[in-house]
Amino acid sequence: MIYVTRRATFNAAHRVYNPKLSDEENFKIFGKCSSPNWHGHNYILEVVVAGEIDPATGYVIDLKILKEIIEKNVIEKADHKNLNLDVDFMKGIQPSAENIAVQIWKQLVNKIPAGKLFAVKLYETENNYFEYKGE
Ligand code: NI
Repeated sequence: MIYVTRRATFNAAHRVYNPKLSDEENFKIFGKCSSPNWHGHNYILEVVVAGEIDPATGYVIDLKILKEIIEKNVIEKADHKNLNLDVDFMKGIQPSAENIAVQIWKQLVNKIPAGKLFAVKLYETENNYFEYKGE
């Protein structure tokens, strides 16, 4: 088994908050991510596909194809968008990095043509990343 990773980036705004709480209470729980006028992150996404090497190509998966799948299903939908308002796969879901990683997994898991999706890693800041492996 070998693991192939494709990296992609997108910039998006969000507001992580509980609508039942005041702005002040939200700030205590969610900090800057609760800003009522939104704020943004430069997200870094890593998609890891695991599989056997195809002896005909030497590849697990053609990275050009993986790139296109990520572009079409994640980046085009989320880049320079508002995760609360604009992104179909985040509709009604609190846009924490944990939830974004899970939703990106769901976007991709049935679309990988060779090998299988092993992990989605989402960096929200330089120091924080979130990893989902489907369970
Ligand atoms: Ni934030």
